[in-house]
Amino acid sequence: MDPPRPATTASADDLLELFQAIRKELELREEAPSGAWVESSVAEARAGTKPAWYYPPSDDGGGISFYSRRGPKVWGHVHAGARPRAGERARRLSEAMLGALPPDVHWISVGFSGFDLREERALAHALAARPGAIAIERFQMERTVRREGPPTVVDPPSGLQLIPVRAATVEALGELDARGFGGSVDDVVMGGTVGEYTEIVQSLLDSRIGRFLDEASTLLYEPSPPRLAGGILVSEASPREAVILDLVVDPERRGHGYGRFLLRWGLRALHALGYTTATLWVTEANRPALRLYESEGFARTASTVLFHWTRPSGEPQPQTSR
Ligand SMILES: CC(C)(COP(=O)(O)OP(=O)(O)OC[C@H]1O[C@@H](n2cnc3c(N)ncnc32)[C@H](O)[C@@H]1OP(=O)(O)O)[C@@H](O)C(=O)NCCC(=O)NCCS
Repeated sequence: MDPPRPATTASADDLLELFQAIRKELELREEAPSGAWVESSVAEARAGTKPAWYYPPSDDGGGISFYSRRGPKVWGHVHAGARPRAGERARRLSEAMLGALPPDVHWISVGFSGFDLREERALAHALAARPGAIAIERFQMERTVRREGPPTVVDPPSGLQLIPVRAATVEALGELDARGFGGSVDDVVMGGTVGEYTEIVQSLLDSRIGRFLDEASTLLYEPSPPRLAGGILVSEASPREAVILDLVVDPERRGHGYGRFLLRWGLRALHALGYTTATLWVTEANRPALRLYESEGFARTASTVLFHWTRPSGEPQPQTSR
C-alpha cells in the first residue's frame, strides 16, 4: 500500500466525501460539530491550514487524517472507510500525521472513526507503545427517559440552591470542571487548564455540540461562602434525544449524593421536555461515573478508543515507536 498523500493535492470532491463520512459518524455518536464544519474543513485541508493526509474514497473507501493545533497542543482525527485493509490505511494515516507534527508540539489527542472497533482498538494500543502515550477506552451509554415515568427527585441537598447555568460566569464553570476533572484521564485528554475548560464550556453554551438545553441543565450553588458544588450540562442531539455533556461534583463535596441528585434532576427535566432518550460518553477508567450511570439505568451502546500522547521530558516526537 502506498503512503497517504497530503490533502493539499486532493480534489475538493474527494475531501468533501471524506469529511461528510466523518460528520455522519460523529452524528451517530452525538458529537458532530455544528455549522459548516465539513465545508470549512475541506477548504482548510486543501489550503494546508488544517494539515491532512488522505486516500481517495475510490481506494476501498479511502481515509483521512488531520489535526488542528492550539499552541503546543494538537487534536487529531483518523478516519478510514470500513472496507478491506481499513486498519492498515488507518495506521499509515496515523503515522503520516504523527510524523509531521512540528517539534514544539508536546501534547496530542487523536480520535478514530469509520473502521472496525477491533482494528481501532488494536491501532490505538499499538500507537500507545510510544513513551508518554496511552490508549483510552470510552463508552457511549444510553437510557430511556420515558420508560417508567419521571425519575424521583428530592429537594436539593440541604444548604444548597439550584441556579441556572447562565447565572454563573463561564469562568466559574471552567473552574468547577478543572477542579472536578483534575487528575483524571478525562483531564489529560481535555487539556487540564482552567482556560481550556472555560473554552470547552463556552463552546457547549454556544450550542456548538447540539443545541444547549438550558432547561435541562443546572448548577448546585452554596451561598456562603459562595461556591459552585456541582452541575449538569445537557444538549439536544435530535428532537427526541438529549446528550449529557458534563456532570461534575466538586471533589470536596463527593459521596453525598450530589451527583445522583444532579443526574436525576436532568433526567426529570428531559422527561418533562418530551425527550425519549438520554445518552452520554464516559471513559472506562471512570469507575465512580460508570457505577452511577449503571445504577440509574444507563446501558452501554457503543465504544471508541482515543490515542493520547504527552511528551515525556527529553523525548523529541511521538512518531518514535519505542
Ligand atoms: C461522577 C461524580 C459526578 C459522582 O458524584 P458524587 O456526588 O460523588 O456521587 P454520589 O455521591 O451521588 O454517588 C452516586 C453513585 O456514584 C457511584 N460512586 C460515587 N463515588 C464513587 C466511588 N468513589 N467509587 C465507586 N462508585 C462511586 C456509586 O454508585 C454511588 O452510589 P452509592 O453511594 O449508592 O454507592 C463525581 O465523582 C465527579 O464529579 N467526578 C468527576 C467528573 C466526572 O467524571 N464526571 C462524569 C463524566 S462522564
